[in-house]
Amino acid sequence: MRRFVIALGVGCGLVGASVALAQQNTAPPEVETLRARAAEILGSVPPPPAELSPAAALGRRLFFDTRMAADGKTACVACHLPERHGADGLRFSLDARGKPTARNSPTVFHVDGQIAQRWRGDRTSPAHQAEDSLVGSLGWPTHDAARAQLLALDYESDFRAAFPDAPDPVSTANFGRAIEAFEATLSTPALFDAFLRGETWLSSEQRRGLALFLDTGCTACHNGPAVGGRSLQRFGVVKPYAEATGSDPVDEGRFAVTKHEADRYVFKVPPLRNVAMTGPWFHDGSVADLAQAVRVMADVQLGKPLGDADANAIAAFLATLTGEVPPHFSAP
Ligand code: HEC
Ligand code: HEC
Repeated sequence: MRRFVIALGVGCGLVGASVALAQQNTAPPEVETLRARAAEILGSVPPPPAELSPAAALGRRLFFDTRMAADGKTACVACHLPERHGADGLRFSLDARGKPTARNSPTVFHVDGQIAQRWRGDRTSPAHQAEDSLVGSLGWPTHDAARAQLLALDYESDFRAAFPDAPDPVSTANFGRAIEAFEATLSTPALFDAFLRGETWLSSEQRRGLALFLDTGCTACHNGPAVGGRSLQRFGVVKPYAEATGSDPVDEGRFAVTKHEADRYVFKVPPLRNVAMTGPWFHDGSVADLAQAVRVMADVQLGKPLGDADANAIAAFLATLTGEVPPHFSAP
């Protein structure tokens, strides 16, 4: 009885009475220690906003508008799908010129605040990424041609509302800014965040996976609330990545962008939020099983090969990073 009362007292302070009552006890000390470590090294993401700003609402329209592609059908959503948590489930996608993309489509969730955009970090911000997609995946020959299309469509008043101080608001730069504002609302709090708030303990398998994720060294690169996106790193620190992924051809990564030897095989560390939903994995979609992707990482990044049970536990932890697709990630 005494133990129950104490536990409930602590529980009220920490997590609220209803949860404490449901669990009938506070978490054991080792769970609290794990929670504190995870909060310090990783961290939680906010819920999406209740309302969209005019710029974000405009970005939402543009993201889903097939008329913004030169072929009239390949909108941003063609390769960043709601039913795939903002990715598309393919190794490569077909762009508006009918050509396969050079790399796998990453999710558009949690892209704000990253060190750079795209696998090779060759675009500086989500706005830059979106603006240049007009002359990339969306197939326009020039920015001027894309701007002419914006002017031909019924967007002018939305641009004026979103960018009231701009003398000439309809521009490809503001197309990028509006989409960036929209993408910044695509936050997906998950079971893991409830764990950080003390509302759940996670299963023992998920906790074991989290502890392995912290202890094996994954968080040297995958850290912060998005669990990555903060640095560019070599893929294949201890041995060539293609030996583990079977990749052919072998993408030289950022080297092809900068021509600096130090950038050979360097890619952006992807955020792992929703990673269980965004396979196939890696820049070339070369691995179709998440536990296998975990084994590849442990092997080529850390030189610490993992057995199946440990890789499965880490995959179980990674699945706790799967949040709900925001309802407004849909055609308006
Ligand atoms: C034909 C498929 C396709 C279309 C259409 C497309 N994308 Fe992408 N997107 C990709 C691929 C592939 C990449 C990765 C390219 C790379 O890294 O080289 C990517 C990367 C991104 C990224 C970077 C994410 C990260 O974590 O680095 C963002 C953001 C993004 N796209 C947003 C958009 C927006 C906004 C549009 C519309 C303006 C769009 N995409 C249209 C396929 C597509
Ligand atoms: C030295 C830095 C580093 C370490 C350590 C590291 N990673 Fe990675 N991780 C990366 C990079 C870089 C990529 C992108 C590789 C590519 O080009 O596809 C990546 C990709 C991934 C992916 C694929 C994500 C996707 O969207 O396709 C998963 C899953 C992953 N890492 C999990 C882990 C796990 C689990 C560990 C620990 C066992 C780990 N990583 C350790 C740098 C690192």
